[in-house]
Amino acid sequence: MAEPIKVVVTGAAGQIAYSLLYMISKGDVFGQDQPLVLHLLDIPPMMGVLEGVVMELMDCALPLLRSVVPTADPEVAFKDVSAAFLVGAMPRKQGMERRDLLAANVKIFQVQGEALDRNAKKDVKVLVVGNPANTNAMVCSRFAPSIPKENFSAMTRLDQNRAQAQVAAKVGVPVGDISNVIIWGNHSSTQYPDATHALVNKNGSETNAAAEVKDDCWFKNVFVETVQKRGASVIAARKMSSAMSAAKAAADHMKDWFMGTPKGKFVSMGVMSDGSYGAPKDVIFSFPVTIENCKWKIVQGLEIDDFSQKMINNTGKELEEERTEAFNIISNKL
Ligand SMILES: NC(=O)c1ccc[n+]([C@@H]2O[C@H](COP(=O)([O-])OP(=O)(O)OC[C@H]3O[C@@H](n4cnc5c(N)ncnc54)[C@H](O)[C@@H]3O)[C@@H](O)[C@H]2O)c1
Repeated sequence: MAEPIKVVVTGAAGQIAYSLLYMISKGDVFGQDQPLVLHLLDIPPMMGVLEGVVMELMDCALPLLRSVVPTADPEVAFKDVSAAFLVGAMPRKQGMERRDLLAANVKIFQVQGEALDRNAKKDVKVLVVGNPANTNAMVCSRFAPSIPKENFSAMTRLDQNRAQAQVAAKVGVPVGDISNVIIWGNHSSTQYPDATHALVNKNGSETNAAAEVKDDCWFKNVFVETVQKRGASVIAARKMSSAMSAAKAAADHMKDWFMGTPKGKFVSMGVMSDGSYGAPKDVIFSFPVTIENCKWKIVQGLEIDDFSQKMINNTGKELEEERTEAFNIISNKL
Protein backbone atom coordinates (compact mmCIF):
# COMPACT_ATOMS: atom_id res chain seq x y z
CA MET A 1 0.00 0.00 0.00
CA ALA A 2 1.11 3.60 -0.67
CA GLU A 3 2.66 5.86 1.98
CA PRO A 4 0.03 7.96 3.84
CA ILE A 5 -0.54 11.48 2.51
CA LYS A 6 -1.32 14.40 4.79
CA VAL A 7 -4.62 16.19 4.21
CA VAL A 8 -5.80 19.28 6.09
CA VAL A 9 -9.39 20.35 6.68
CA THR A 10 -9.98 23.77 8.22
CA GLY A 11 -13.20 24.66 10.00
CA ALA A 12 -12.92 21.06 11.13
CA ALA A 13 -15.37 21.46 14.04
CA GLY A 14 -18.05 22.91 11.74
CA GLN A 15 -21.00 21.34 9.99
CA ILE A 16 -19.57 20.85 6.47
CA ALA A 17 -16.46 19.21 7.94
CA TYR A 18 -18.64 16.85 9.96
CA SER A 19 -19.79 15.18 6.71
CA LEU A 20 -16.60 15.81 4.71
CA LEU A 21 -14.19 14.17 7.16
CA TYR A 22 -16.03 10.87 6.88
CA MET A 23 -16.05 10.97 3.07
CA ILE A 24 -12.31 11.70 2.93
CA SER A 25 -11.42 9.12 5.58
CA LYS A 26 -13.27 6.26 3.94
CA GLY A 27 -11.45 6.75 0.65
CA ASP A 28 -14.04 8.62 -1.45
CA VAL A 29 -11.54 11.30 -2.50
CA PHE A 30 -8.02 9.88 -2.73
CA GLY A 31 -8.97 6.27 -3.43
CA GLN A 32 -9.30 3.01 -1.57
CA ASP A 33 -5.53 2.37 -1.70
CA GLN A 34 -4.41 5.68 -0.27
CA PRO A 35 -3.86 5.85 3.51
CA LEU A 36 -4.24 9.27 5.13
CA VAL A 37 -3.14 11.42 8.02
CA LEU A 38 -5.80 14.05 8.73
CA HIS A 39 -4.85 17.47 10.06
CA LEU A 40 -7.84 19.29 11.57
CA LEU A 41 -7.64 23.06 12.06
CA ASP A 42 -10.12 25.17 13.95
CA ILE A 43 -9.96 28.18 16.28
CA PRO A 44 -9.00 27.83 19.99
CA PRO A 45 -12.59 28.06 21.41
CA MET A 46 -13.58 25.06 19.24
CA MET A 47 -10.85 22.68 20.47
CA GLY A 48 -13.26 20.91 22.83
CA VAL A 49 -15.76 20.26 20.05
CA LEU A 50 -12.92 19.16 17.77
CA GLU A 51 -11.87 16.62 20.39
CA GLY A 52 -15.34 15.04 20.01
CA VAL A 53 -14.92 14.90 16.23
CA VAL A 54 -11.57 13.14 16.70
CA MET A 55 -13.21 10.59 19.02
CA GLU A 56 -15.92 9.91 16.43
CA LEU A 57 -13.38 9.49 13.63
CA MET A 58 -11.56 6.96 15.81
CA ASP A 59 -14.86 5.18 16.55
CA CYS A 60 -15.61 4.90 12.81
CA ALA A 61 -12.69 2.40 12.68
CA LEU A 62 -11.68 3.43 9.16
CA PRO A 63 -8.74 1.37 7.87
CA LEU A 64 -7.30 4.14 5.64
CA LEU A 65 -7.14 6.70 8.43
CA ARG A 66 -3.72 6.32 10.05
CA SER A 67 -3.81 9.25 12.47
CA VAL A 68 -5.54 12.54 13.23
CA VAL A 69 -3.88 15.79 14.32
CA PRO A 70 -6.32 18.33 15.82
CA THR A 71 -4.83 21.81 16.22
CA ALA A 72 -5.49 25.55 16.41
CA ASP A 73 -2.04 26.33 14.99
CA PRO A 74 -1.87 26.86 11.19
CA GLU A 75 1.87 26.03 11.21
CA VAL A 76 1.06 22.53 12.49
CA ALA A 77 -2.07 22.15 10.36
CA PHE A 78 -0.37 22.88 7.02
CA LYS A 79 2.87 20.94 7.66
CA ASP A 80 3.67 18.74 4.64
CA VAL A 81 0.09 18.57 3.38
CA SER A 82 -0.67 17.35 -0.15
CA ALA A 83 -4.28 18.55 -0.14
CA ALA A 84 -6.02 21.36 1.73
CA PHE A 85 -9.76 21.83 2.16
CA LEU A 86 -10.16 25.40 3.43
CA VAL A 87 -13.68 25.23 4.82
CA GLY A 88 -13.40 27.49 7.88
CA ALA A 89 -14.28 31.13 7.38
CA MET A 90 -15.85 34.03 9.23
CA PRO A 91 -19.63 33.84 8.78
CA ARG A 92 -21.69 37.00 8.24
CA LYS A 93 -23.07 38.15 11.59
CA GLN A 94 -26.05 40.40 12.16
CA GLY A 95 -25.27 44.02 11.33
CA MET A 96 -22.06 43.10 9.54
CA GLU A 97 -21.40 44.97 6.29
CA ARG A 98 -20.07 43.10 3.25
CA ARG A 99 -16.77 44.95 3.65
CA ASP A 100 -16.40 43.87 7.31
CA LEU A 101 -17.02 40.28 6.27
CA LEU A 102 -14.43 40.53 3.52
CA ALA A 103 -11.93 42.19 5.89
CA ALA A 104 -12.29 39.36 8.45
CA ASN A 105 -11.81 36.76 5.74
CA VAL A 106 -8.87 38.53 4.09
CA LYS A 107 -7.14 38.25 7.46
CA ILE A 108 -7.91 34.52 7.82
CA PHE A 109 -6.84 33.67 4.27
CA GLN A 110 -3.69 35.78 4.51
CA VAL A 111 -2.62 33.84 7.62
CA GLN A 112 -3.47 30.51 5.99
CA GLY A 113 -1.77 31.44 2.69
CA GLU A 114 1.42 32.34 4.57
CA ALA A 115 1.27 29.12 6.59
CA LEU A 116 0.73 27.07 3.42
CA ASP A 117 3.69 28.84 1.81
CA ARG A 118 5.98 27.95 4.72
CA ASN A 119 4.77 24.44 5.43
CA ALA A 120 2.82 22.68 2.69
CA LYS A 121 4.21 20.55 -0.13
CA LYS A 122 4.83 22.76 -3.16
CA ASP A 123 2.40 20.72 -5.23
CA VAL A 124 -0.37 20.97 -2.61
CA LYS A 125 -3.88 21.27 -4.09
CA VAL A 126 -5.91 23.91 -2.26
CA LEU A 127 -9.70 24.01 -2.40
CA VAL A 128 -11.37 27.03 -0.79
CA VAL A 129 -14.95 26.37 0.36
CA GLY A 130 -15.30 29.16 2.95
CA ASN A 131 -17.11 32.22 1.60
CA PRO A 132 -16.56 34.48 -0.25
CA ALA A 133 -14.79 31.45 -1.74
CA ASN A 134 -13.43 32.94 -4.99
CA THR A 135 -11.90 36.01 -3.41
CA ASN A 136 -10.65 34.07 -0.39
CA ALA A 137 -8.83 31.71 -2.79
CA MET A 138 -7.26 34.69 -4.59
CA VAL A 139 -6.07 36.19 -1.30
CA CYS A 140 -4.70 32.83 -0.13
CA SER A 141 -2.74 32.36 -3.35
CA ARG A 142 -1.33 35.89 -3.16
CA PHE A 143 0.18 35.15 0.25
CA ALA A 144 1.64 31.81 -0.86
CA PRO A 145 3.96 32.93 -3.69
CA SER A 146 6.10 29.76 -3.63
CA ILE A 147 3.08 27.60 -4.57
CA PRO A 148 1.89 27.79 -8.21
CA LYS A 149 -1.30 29.84 -8.70
CA GLU A 150 -2.83 26.87 -10.54
CA ASN A 151 -2.88 25.00 -7.21
CA PHE A 152 -5.54 27.31 -5.71
CA SER A 153 -9.19 26.83 -6.50
CA ALA A 154 -12.61 27.82 -5.22
CA MET A 155 -15.62 25.55 -4.97
CA THR A 156 -18.48 25.94 -7.43
CA ARG A 157 -19.04 22.20 -7.58
CA LEU A 158 -22.06 22.41 -5.27
CA ASP A 159 -23.64 24.79 -7.78
CA GLN A 160 -22.73 22.40 -10.59
CA ASN A 161 -24.24 19.43 -8.74
CA ARG A 162 -27.39 21.44 -8.02
CA ALA A 163 -27.63 22.45 -11.69
CA GLN A 164 -27.06 18.88 -12.86
CA ALA A 165 -29.83 17.65 -10.54
CA GLN A 166 -32.26 20.30 -11.85
CA VAL A 167 -31.58 19.37 -15.48
CA ALA A 168 -31.93 15.65 -14.68
CA ALA A 169 -35.32 16.26 -13.04
CA LYS A 170 -36.48 18.36 -16.01
CA VAL A 171 -35.39 15.78 -18.59
CA GLY A 172 -36.62 12.91 -16.41
CA VAL A 173 -33.39 10.88 -16.23
CA PRO A 174 -31.13 9.82 -13.32
CA VAL A 175 -28.65 12.56 -12.35
CA GLY A 176 -25.69 10.43 -13.49
CA ASP A 177 -26.98 10.61 -17.06
CA ILE A 178 -26.44 14.39 -17.19
CA SER A 179 -22.99 15.92 -17.77
CA ASN A 180 -21.21 19.07 -18.92
CA VAL A 181 -23.42 21.57 -17.08
CA ILE A 182 -21.30 24.69 -16.46
CA ILE A 183 -21.08 27.19 -13.62
CA TRP A 184 -19.41 30.43 -14.72
CA GLY A 185 -17.95 33.08 -12.43
CA ASN A 186 -18.48 33.75 -8.77
CA HIS A 187 -19.93 31.41 -6.14
CA SER A 188 -22.60 34.00 -5.35
CA SER A 189 -26.01 34.98 -6.64
CA THR A 190 -24.37 36.39 -9.82
CA GLN A 191 -23.05 32.96 -10.84
CA TYR A 192 -24.21 31.79 -14.25
CA PRO A 193 -25.45 28.19 -14.35
CA ASP A 194 -25.33 27.28 -18.04
CA ALA A 195 -26.90 24.15 -19.50
CA THR A 196 -26.32 25.15 -23.14
CA HIS A 197 -23.64 22.47 -23.54
CA ALA A 198 -25.14 19.90 -21.16
CA LEU A 199 -25.42 16.34 -22.40
CA VAL A 200 -28.02 13.66 -21.69
CA ASN A 201 -27.01 10.03 -21.91
CA LYS A 202 -29.85 8.05 -23.41
CA ASN A 203 -29.15 4.35 -23.86
CA GLY A 204 -25.47 5.01 -24.42
CA SER A 205 -25.77 7.85 -26.93
CA GLU A 206 -25.44 11.49 -25.91
CA THR A 207 -27.73 14.29 -26.95
CA ASN A 208 -27.89 17.97 -26.05
CA ALA A 209 -30.08 18.59 -22.97
CA ALA A 210 -31.54 21.84 -24.30
CA ALA A 211 -32.52 20.15 -27.56
CA GLU A 212 -34.12 17.37 -25.51
CA VAL A 213 -36.16 19.72 -23.30
CA LYS A 214 -37.06 22.32 -25.97
CA ASP A 215 -37.89 24.96 -23.37
CA ASP A 216 -35.47 27.86 -23.75
CA CYS A 217 -37.49 30.00 -21.36
CA TRP A 218 -37.08 27.41 -18.56
CA PHE A 219 -33.30 27.27 -19.07
CA LYS A 220 -32.87 31.06 -19.12
CA ASN A 221 -35.20 31.85 -16.23
CA VAL A 222 -36.42 29.08 -13.91
CA PHE A 223 -33.24 26.98 -14.09
CA VAL A 224 -30.80 29.86 -13.62
CA GLU A 225 -32.72 31.36 -10.72
CA THR A 226 -33.36 28.03 -8.98
CA VAL A 227 -29.65 27.22 -8.95
CA GLN A 228 -28.58 30.76 -8.00
CA LYS A 229 -30.99 30.78 -5.05
CA ARG A 230 -30.70 27.13 -4.00
CA GLY A 231 -28.45 27.92 -1.03
CA ALA A 232 -31.01 30.41 0.31
CA SER A 233 -33.84 27.88 -0.22
CA VAL A 234 -31.97 25.27 1.83
CA ILE A 235 -31.37 27.80 4.63
CA ALA A 236 -35.06 28.79 4.61
CA ALA A 237 -36.13 25.14 4.96
CA ARG A 238 -33.41 23.75 7.21
CA LYS A 239 -32.63 26.91 9.22
CA MET A 240 -29.02 26.01 8.58
CA SER A 241 -26.89 26.27 5.45
CA SER A 242 -26.14 23.38 3.08
CA ALA A 243 -23.67 21.04 4.69
CA MET A 244 -24.05 17.44 3.48
CA SER A 245 -24.27 18.57 -0.16
CA ALA A 246 -21.41 21.04 0.31
CA ALA A 247 -19.23 18.26 1.74
CA LYS A 248 -20.11 15.93 -1.16
CA ALA A 249 -19.23 18.70 -3.63
CA ALA A 250 -15.87 19.36 -1.94
CA ALA A 251 -15.11 15.64 -2.13
CA ASP A 252 -16.13 15.53 -5.83
CA HIS A 253 -13.97 18.58 -6.63
CA MET A 254 -10.81 17.22 -4.98
CA LYS A 255 -11.36 13.69 -6.31
CA ASP A 256 -11.55 14.94 -9.90
CA TRP A 257 -8.46 17.13 -9.35
CA PHE A 258 -6.46 14.08 -8.22
CA MET A 259 -8.05 11.40 -10.43
CA GLY A 260 -8.93 13.38 -13.60
CA THR A 261 -12.07 13.81 -15.69
CA PRO A 262 -13.34 11.24 -18.21
CA LYS A 263 -12.76 11.90 -21.92
CA GLY A 264 -15.26 14.38 -23.36
CA LYS A 265 -16.50 15.41 -19.90
CA PHE A 266 -15.81 18.61 -18.00
CA VAL A 267 -16.46 19.98 -14.51
CA SER A 268 -16.57 23.51 -13.09
CA MET A 269 -13.88 24.89 -10.81
CA GLY A 270 -13.04 28.40 -9.64
CA VAL A 271 -9.50 28.86 -10.99
CA MET A 272 -7.14 31.75 -11.74
CA SER A 273 -8.58 33.38 -14.85
CA ASP A 274 -6.50 33.80 -18.00
CA GLY A 275 -9.24 35.94 -19.56
CA SER A 276 -10.89 33.09 -21.48
CA TYR A 277 -14.46 33.81 -22.66
CA GLY A 278 -14.06 37.50 -21.83
CA ALA A 279 -13.77 36.87 -18.08
CA PRO A 280 -11.57 39.35 -16.20
CA LYS A 281 -7.98 38.14 -15.79
CA ASP A 282 -6.39 37.38 -12.41
CA VAL A 283 -9.56 36.71 -10.44
CA ILE A 284 -10.62 33.24 -9.35
CA PHE A 285 -13.39 32.60 -11.89
CA SER A 286 -15.38 29.40 -12.32
CA PHE A 287 -14.79 27.83 -15.74
CA PRO A 288 -15.46 24.45 -17.32
CA VAL A 289 -12.21 22.48 -17.01
CA THR A 290 -10.84 19.09 -17.94
CA ILE A 291 -8.26 17.48 -15.65
CA GLU A 292 -5.37 15.17 -16.50
CA ASN A 293 -2.35 14.23 -14.35
CA CYS A 294 -3.63 16.49 -11.53
CA LYS A 295 -3.62 19.57 -13.83
CA TRP A 296 -6.73 21.41 -14.93
CA LYS A 297 -7.18 23.06 -18.31
CA ILE A 298 -9.95 25.51 -19.22
CA VAL A 299 -12.14 24.04 -21.96
CA GLN A 300 -11.71 26.24 -25.05
CA GLY A 301 -13.85 26.89 -28.10
CA LEU A 302 -17.34 26.58 -26.58
CA GLU A 303 -19.91 28.63 -28.42
CA ILE A 304 -21.20 31.47 -26.24
CA ASP A 305 -24.46 33.19 -27.17
CA ASP A 306 -25.31 36.81 -26.29
CA PHE A 307 -27.32 35.85 -23.20
CA SER A 308 -24.44 33.75 -21.83
CA GLN A 309 -21.87 36.46 -22.57
CA LYS A 310 -23.94 39.03 -20.68
CA MET A 311 -24.20 36.71 -17.68
CA ILE A 312 -20.44 35.94 -17.79
CA ASN A 313 -19.62 39.65 -17.94
CA ASN A 314 -21.93 40.42 -15.03
CA THR A 315 -20.45 37.83 -12.64
CA GLY A 316 -16.94 38.86 -13.78
CA LYS A 317 -17.69 42.46 -12.84
CA GLU A 318 -18.66 41.38 -9.32
CA LEU A 319 -15.39 39.48 -8.95
CA GLU A 320 -13.40 42.54 -10.06
CA GLU A 321 -15.23 44.61 -7.44
CA GLU A 322 -14.48 42.03 -4.72
CA ARG A 323 -10.83 42.00 -5.80
CA THR A 324 -10.61 45.80 -5.58
CA GLU A 325 -12.13 45.72 -2.07
CA ALA A 326 -9.79 42.91 -0.98
CA PHE A 327 -6.72 44.77 -2.32
CA ASN A 328 -7.82 47.95 -0.53
CA ILE A 329 -8.10 45.99 2.72
CA ILE A 330 -4.68 44.37 2.16
CA SER A 331 -2.92 47.66 1.29
CA ASN A 332 -4.46 49.43 4.31
CA LYS A 333 -3.13 46.65 6.51
CA LEU A 334 0.40 46.63 5.07
N1 LIG B 1 -18.45 27.28 -1.84
C1 LIG B 1 -19.60 26.72 -1.51
O1 LIG B 1 -20.32 26.17 -2.37
C2 LIG B 1 -20.10 26.70 -0.10
C3 LIG B 1 -21.24 25.96 0.22
C4 LIG B 1 -21.69 25.93 1.55
C5 LIG B 1 -21.01 26.65 2.52
N2 LIG B 1 -19.92 27.39 2.18
C6 LIG B 1 -19.15 28.13 3.18
O2 LIG B 1 -18.36 27.21 3.92
C7 LIG B 1 -18.01 27.77 5.17
C8 LIG B 1 -18.21 26.78 6.29
O3 LIG B 1 -19.56 26.41 6.41
P1 LIG B 1 -20.07 25.54 7.65
O4 LIG B 1 -21.52 25.34 7.42
O5 LIG B 1 -19.19 24.35 7.87
O6 LIG B 1 -19.87 26.58 8.81
P2 LIG B 1 -19.75 26.32 10.39
O7 LIG B 1 -19.97 27.66 11.02
O8 LIG B 1 -20.56 25.15 10.83
O9 LIG B 1 -18.22 25.92 10.57
C9 LIG B 1 -17.18 26.80 10.29
C10 LIG B 1 -16.03 26.42 11.18
O10 LIG B 1 -14.91 27.22 10.79
C11 LIG B 1 -14.21 27.56 11.96
N3 LIG B 1 -13.32 28.68 11.71
C12 LIG B 1 -13.60 30.01 11.72
N4 LIG B 1 -12.47 30.72 11.52
C13 LIG B 1 -11.47 29.83 11.37
C14 LIG B 1 -10.08 29.95 11.15
N5 LIG B 1 -9.50 31.14 11.05
N6 LIG B 1 -9.36 28.82 11.05
C15 LIG B 1 -9.92 27.62 11.17
N7 LIG B 1 -11.24 27.42 11.40
C16 LIG B 1 -12.00 28.53 11.50
C17 LIG B 1 -15.32 27.84 12.97
O11 LIG B 1 -14.86 27.83 14.30
C18 LIG B 1 -16.29 26.69 12.66
O12 LIG B 1 -15.99 25.54 13.43
C19 LIG B 1 -18.86 29.05 5.29
O13 LIG B 1 -18.07 30.16 4.91
C20 LIG B 1 -19.94 28.84 4.25
O14 LIG B 1 -20.47 30.07 3.79
C21 LIG B 1 -19.45 27.41 0.89
